Amino acid sequence: MADLRQQRVVLGVTGGIAAYKAAELVRLLVKDGVEVQVVMTQSACSFITPATMQALSGRPVFTDMWDPRVSDNMAHIELSRGAGLIVVAPATADFLAKLANGHADDLLSTLCMARECPLLVAPAMNRQMWDNQATRRNVAQLARDGVVILGPASGDQACGETGMGRMLEAQQIHDEINSSLQPKLLAGKQVLITAGPTFEAIDPVRGITNRSSGKMGYAIARAALDAGAQVTLVSGPTNLEAPAAAKIERIESANEMFAAVKKHVRGADIYIGVAAVADYRVAKPSEQKIKRTAANLALELVPNPDILAYCAGLPRPPFCVGFAAESQKLHEFADAKRRRKKVPLMVANLAQDAIGADDNEVTLLDDSGTHTLPRAPKTVLARQLVAYIAKLYSSAKTTRSGTAKDAKDAKV
Ligand code: C5P
Repeated sequence: MADLRQQRVVLGVTGGIAAYKAAELVRLLVKDGVEVQVVMTQSACSFITPATMQALSGRPVFTDMWDPRVSDNMAHIELSRGAGLIVVAPATADFLAKLANGHADDLLSTLCMARECPLLVAPAMNRQMWDNQATRRNVAQLARDGVVILGPASGDQACGETGMGRMLEAQQIHDEINSSLQPKLLAGKQVLITAGPTFEAIDPVRGITNRSSGKMGYAIARAALDAGAQVTLVSGPTNLEAPAAAKIERIESANEMFAAVKKHVRGADIYIGVAAVADYRVAKPSEQKIKRTAANLALELVPNPDILAYCAGLPRPPFCVGFAAESQKLHEFADAKRRRKKVPLMVANLAQDAIGADDNEVTLLDDSGTHTLPRAPKTVLARQLVAYIAKLYSSAKTTRSGTAKDAKDAKV
């Protein structure tokens, strides 16, 4: 994961009851080593005091365009200088309207207008205000302008109602900020990822599948997006929500996954096969539900295509990464797989540890040997893995003749 200690974030706080959550957000960011510059609107000061924010951030808080502490009267330029991003949390309906229309009549709105860095806003308001046509228009406009809208969530509101408009929790906003601050190691790269299990039909209601949850593949998709890549995620059946910025293709069977991969691999710079693809499918799934009888029932299984080996065997393949889940002889079996499928990088993990869990430990096998990423949440491992892939990809690219673009044009 990126070291956030070098990072500077401007946290804008506007006047809503959720301002109290901004105090916790400062605490979480400061704990990561981020330098947090708090800027509050006048009405925010009615909900939480600058003294609280100053104590938590360890820095003076600014509320006024004409603060005498900024000698050249250019607080709107001075405060965002060197900032990795600006986040406004909470962002009221009024502040969103200001931003959407380019108003700059106080320090925070002027600072947002004068920025050079990404802007994230975490709306917080009563559900009717959130549903109001004007807010809908403003939010749509902000999204078009490239502002990142975090939430809101649905639930109990301070006004006693229940509905959409609650600000995300401090931890969620912190995680989004953390994602935005990741180094853009894969900027401009197209990454194709498969994730989850496949489902091979036996009849209209039954099938063969496995315990893969898709968590690792989805975490890698998220990490690749955070690293600046454009991501296509081909996913078997899971209960997970795909990252909003990924292009998602939902499939069931290995054959459907193969078709989706063939469709997207043409433009891919990197292919990461995280899916637990069924090795076999039923030769002739029954069109009708199979009835129970006293006799034994034999299913004929036929091998599925090896999607990873196909991608790696293309005339100009993308940089291919495979995953090997083994229940024994981890390194030996994973390395044999790497050689057989001719992939530059194989990620090996113990099936009994990895499948369905939130944590994992993986070993990376490539031409330079083996490298272990110690046990950590899959979200953390995904970032480490993406950083490793980016490094191998760029060194592979410089040793290949021709550019990645030549390869892309000539592929498939
Ligand atoms: O199943 P196996 O252990 O061979 O899986 C290793 C790698 O190969 C994984 O990355 C998996 O996504 C890929 N694979 C595939 N098509 C298959 C079987 C596996 O792409 N039919």
